[in-house]
Amino acid sequence: MRVGIFDSGIGGLSVLHQALQELPEAEFIYYADEEHVPYGEKTGKQIKGYIDEIIKFLLKKRVDAIVIACNTATSVATKEYRSRFPVPIIGMEPAVKQAVELYGHLPGRILVAATPVTIAGDKLHHLVEQVDREDKVDLVALPGLVRFAEKGDFDTDEITEYLKQELKAYPLERYKAFVLGCTHFNYFKAYYKKIFPENVKYVDGNAGTIRQLLRKLGYQKEEMPRAGGGERIKYYFSGAPVTAGDRRRINVYMEQLGRLDSI
Ligand code: DGL
Repeated sequence: MRVGIFDSGIGGLSVLHQALQELPEAEFIYYADEEHVPYGEKTGKQIKGYIDEIIKFLLKKRVDAIVIACNTATSVATKEYRSRFPVPIIGMEPAVKQAVELYGHLPGRILVAATPVTIAGDKLHHLVEQVDREDKVDLVALPGLVRFAEKGDFDTDEITEYLKQELKAYPLERYKAFVLGCTHFNYFKAYYKKIFPENVKYVDGNAGTIRQLLRKLGYQKEEMPRAGGGERIKYYFSGAPVTAGDRRRINVYMEQLGRLDSI
């Protein structure tokens, strides 16, 4: 079983990190569109063009399924678009439904953060209309976090300052859950903890996406066929195999994700 995972950049590595834990037998191709990141500040037409190229590339690599590890790309790719291709395409949307199901009964509000494209998109608005029956969900765009993530600087006060500034208008003490609606936001859990009250729950869509991948492929976790014995993960940056420098950069992100597992 070979699974293609792509994102505008390094955010989707958080989905790969989850997939590596849950699908120990699968092979992966990870594609980061580093030439075009950030998608969250592009037009829908531009993003669709990038997605087309990436899917064609991954199909040539004979993947059995493709995970769009990017909420922004999923938000512009319609269902019809996804059904155009010969392998299952699994998208990602901010885990609002999950947050409402898990924490909706508790007092307090739910804050959903994503990129400007996702926040402005019809898809998210429809989702919120469907699940937020008690009007408890607020939305915020945090594009700066994508830039911090791409720089790979996980230890700077600038991030705290940025969050404080962008969330100034939101009464943080009233929130019980924070939804990470962009895969790039997964690197900053320690920062959210500094500014939100202690008991806030953090919700991301990674585990749900892997469950959906298994469902689409019709496998239980333990039934996943064994990989062919070659390299388990191949990385590409905008269609080019990664350099040794890129590889070192990827390792830094994977290590950061490993550290965050225990947070
Ligand atoms: N990681 C992407 C997401 O989940 C988007 C980041 C960007 O390129 O703006 O939405």
